[in-house]
Amino acid sequence: MSNPLVNKVNKNILNVNPYVPGKPIEEVKREFGLKSVIKLASNENPYPPSPKVIKAICKAALTVNRYPDGSCFELRQKLAKRLKVAPQQLVFGCGSDEVIVMAVRSFVEPGDEVVMAKPSFLVYSLASAAAGAKLVEVPLNGLRYNLPAMKAAVTSRTKIVFIGNPDNPAGLYPTKPELDEFLKGFPEDVLVFLDEAYFEYIKAKDYPDTVRLLKKRKNLVVARTFSKIYGLAGLRVGYGVADIEIAGILDRAREPFNVTSLAQAAALAALDDDKYYLRIIKEQTAERERLCVALAAMGLEFSKGATNFIQVRVAKDSGEVVLALMKSGVIVRDMSAWGLKNFIRVSIGTPSENTRFLKVLKREI
Ligand SMILES: Cc1ncc(COP(=O)(O)O)c(C=O)c1O
Repeated sequence: MSNPLVNKVNKNILNVNPYVPGKPIEEVKREFGLKSVIKLASNENPYPPSPKVIKAICKAALTVNRYPDGSCFELRQKLAKRLKVAPQQLVFGCGSDEVIVMAVRSFVEPGDEVVMAKPSFLVYSLASAAAGAKLVEVPLNGLRYNLPAMKAAVTSRTKIVFIGNPDNPAGLYPTKPELDEFLKGFPEDVLVFLDEAYFEYIKAKDYPDTVRLLKKRKNLVVARTFSKIYGLAGLRVGYGVADIEIAGILDRAREPFNVTSLAQAAALAALDDDKYYLRIIKEQTAERERLCVALAAMGLEFSKGATNFIQVRVAKDSGEVVLALMKSGVIVRDMSAWGLKNFIRVSIGTPSENTRFLKVLKREI
């Protein structure tokens, strides 16, 4: 007999399709009896954090009997200086995922509309569905955002427009002229959420400087994270930059101790070690080029994004390809959850991991 309490569940929660993350390495080892497994499925930095960061985490471990500083004071000061914004313009989250959730919690009431691209980063739709929003999904134009159509989709019920800058899974960003055009005449009472989880990887001249846009526009939230290039995905710390008033509103929607003391210490130390991370960006960018050349030589179509992952079209069902790769100890992402049945997404690994992926893929496609 089913649990009667289930009848009382918030209907919006029942509408949420649970997020299916990339399988953990240990689980794949157990399931397939493998000794060596590599994970190229969640767009993580394949390298551990810098030694300075590890040292800071160990030091902070001695204080975990205390609650963390809920305001992230030190991290706030340091980031504000780096970004040339006021400390009160920052809001911190348990990963940038939580900043997305905080924005939805702050602005969206049941029946409101949220505009996003399709396919796009899944957390936008998960958070919006949980809040009872009507999702207005605007198909990509090829692999790129159709920003004029997204702007045209805004109505008086729209509360948020989500823009992955760059987005996941395509890995592409709207260029500066495209974003400027989008923002021209855009309603000032609709929030434009610019998700920049991969910001640090991009050096292109046409990449929009969105934090600067905040000087003129009060309806933007720019979200960034320590999960990607800073290699702190397991510690969960991200942040948003916004107009002071809006940052204050988002801050009300967070859990009081949402960023742990270990995460705060690690993020602070990471900001002091640019050299370590720049070296990794350089290597990852070169590896992305190498993978693209190899995929093209295999006759595969792929989107060459600006990030640390590549979306690849495979001739077979993506679930079959992902399973075959997994049995050989290589975890990549099946894109069917995004509605893309013949696509996989591979994160850039270390050079030897990438070589192993290419070898196994060649055999399985
Ligand atoms: C586009 C995009 N935004 C946000 C995130 C969330 O990152 P985190 O919550 O780890 O900061 C991810 C993670 O994969 C992402 O791809």
